[in-house]
Amino acid sequence: MNTYTYEKSQSLFKRAAKVIPCGIYGHLSPAPLVPPTDYPFYAAKASGSKFWDVDGNEFIDYMCAYGPMVLGYNNPIVEEAAEKQRKLGNCITSPSPVMVDLAEYLVNLISIADWAFFAKNGGDATSFALMIARAATGRAKAILIKGGYHGVSPWAQGPGHHGVTDEDVKNNIYVKWNDISQIEEAISDNPKQIAAFMATPYHHPAFTDSEMPGDGYWQKVEQICKKEGIVLIVDDVRCGFRLDMRGSNEYFGFKPDLICYCKAIGNGYPISALVGKDYLRNYAAKVFYTGSYWFSAVPMAAALTTLKELERINGPDIMIKLGKKLTDGMTEIAKTYGYNLKVTGVPSMPSIYITDDESLMLHQDFCAACTKRGAFFTSHHNWFISTAHTDEDIQRTWDIVEDAFKAIKKK
Ligand SMILES: Cc1ncc(COP(=O)(O)O)c(C=O)c1O
Repeated sequence: MNTYTYEKSQSLFKRAAKVIPCGIYGHLSPAPLVPPTDYPFYAAKASGSKFWDVDGNEFIDYMCAYGPMVLGYNNPIVEEAAEKQRKLGNCITSPSPVMVDLAEYLVNLISIADWAFFAKNGGDATSFALMIARAATGRAKAILIKGGYHGVSPWAQGPGHHGVTDEDVKNNIYVKWNDISQIEEAISDNPKQIAAFMATPYHHPAFTDSEMPGDGYWQKVEQICKKEGIVLIVDDVRCGFRLDMRGSNEYFGFKPDLICYCKAIGNGYPISALVGKDYLRNYAAKVFYTGSYWFSAVPMAAALTTLKELERINGPDIMIKLGKKLTDGMTEIAKTYGYNLKVTGVPSMPSIYITDDESLMLHQDFCAACTKRGAFFTSHHNWFISTAHTDEDIQRTWDIVEDAFKAIKKK
């Protein structure tokens, strides 16, 4: 099997490094792509489950733009809806009717939702959720999970990060995932001071396995929050619409007060949402929160169509089945070459690590070897499945995985 080279990506990156801090910043930075020489840095185009880099290499994309791509790149139904709205108008002095249509749709779809609010990024939704919880309770502190991710606002980055002050994070209390006693301790140490508990539906930290909620964990958290008057916030930015269309909380059987969405909601169009229970509506109205592009109608039209299509085809079910098929097959192939693949998380966004080497060197080698053969895998983050991935993609990926293991074994 031929392996790819990336001359054009590398020369673009050299130009970028002179005019853009970091060259490529944030989650698309080459820093965690090890070795960077085995990865593309710039995409030329994308369609369905695939993208092509600037060197003309084709990849089956298992990162899906880190989540937003859910129905396939350039999905014709979503693009048609976006185009129709674009012709009418996008960023206008007054909001467009599609904003009301989308809010009504979400309120009907999401089991706990009595209202919906729109912004651009996941971090807009998590920060707004926290502000609403503070406005509603008159309290300042928030319980968060160690190793959780809620965006790049100073409060969300945590202590010790560049540009973050102690003041920014002084109201955060970090507890271990799945540990009820630490939540109880935090509450008894800070009586009537905790505004919110915020967590993802299951724990999906970087560089390690994902962890499901233990039996009764969420039900107990819900009960404690109710009793203590704490606003229960689910950050569904990453899992949203890949587990359950009614909210990932339904997948685990509990009811939060606020749910944050982004990523899959618009199939790549820039939009995020916060939905909430009725009792928080007035607080959501009182907090001043807005942005230059938050009323843009094209992403709203794209989101409405994305959600309708995901619901029509039962997108989460398709992605869960495809993810299970892919990872079961990969695990079998790994075994025949004497390696152990550990798969955690929900199969529509699996975390996969080779367990035979704790240093992650072998795992990084494996992901890089697959990527330069055409299956884009990262070694530090959960992967994403879309409804556009096909059985043919999976078969091709298995062939790539087999060839990668052969090469690694030889090395
Ligand atoms: C669970 C979770 N919350 C919040 C965010 C922040 O979203 P954004 O980068 O769109 O601000 C992310 C992004 O990866 C996420 O995975």
